[in-house]
Amino acid sequence: MNILISFHSDYGHTEKMAFAISAGCQASFPDSRIKTLAVEQTELADFEHADIIFLGTPVHMGSMAWGMKKLLDSTSKLWMEDLLEGKVGGVFACSGGLGGAGGGVEQTLISLHSLLLEHGMTAVGFPKSLLGYADAGIQWGVAARTSNHEGMPEAISEQALTACRSYGAHVCYIADKLG
Ligand SMILES: Cc1cc2nc3c(=O)[nH]c(=O)nc-3n(C[C@H](O)[C@H](O)[C@H](O)COP(=O)(O)O)c2cc1C
Repeated sequence: MNILISFHSDYGHTEKMAFAISAGCQASFPDSRIKTLAVEQTELADFEHADIIFLGTPVHMGSMAWGMKKLLDSTSKLWMEDLLEGKVGGVFACSGGLGGAGGGVEQTLISLHSLLLEHGMTAVGFPKSLLGYADAGIQWGVAARTSNHEGMPEAISEQALTACRSYGAHVCYIADKLG
């Protein structure tokens, strides 16, 4: 399977999530060819060649980071020709999350799903039976929190990275089942 994991990350948390998802994919399907790329390095050809596409972003002012949105807008060229139809997708995001409600993470994940569905892809959620769900799961994908109670960036937890690994493996499993 060809897998693209495209992410935006300013301070490295989303990047760690991307590489944990990659590790989960590799562990479950060792023959996978995985490209884990920052949005600036991601080209439309990477979308086209992938069987599975993961998109990840930090929450910025309640929604996805503009670098991710810029990349996704550029995929309209692929949409015109239905080039992503039938592919499988997954989404992940992290937020400071001060206040206990996720700081916009759910809205961010849903807007990434919306992109996948607009392209005619199959968007895969995160079942609650999987490892890591209780720490960084939500039905849409992986949602990690990174700030402390003062709202300052702290760290991404090992449990959240476990959630990423199990989600990566799960999305690959679904893609394999769909053939
Ligand atoms: C410009 C900017 C806007 C942000 N807006 C939000 C927000 O609306 N809600 C939130 O919970 N966290 C917000 N954050 C915090 C980031 O989502 C959080 O620190 C995230 O873990 C950063 O990921 P990264 O290390 O991959 O850049 C914001 C951070 C920045 C830099």
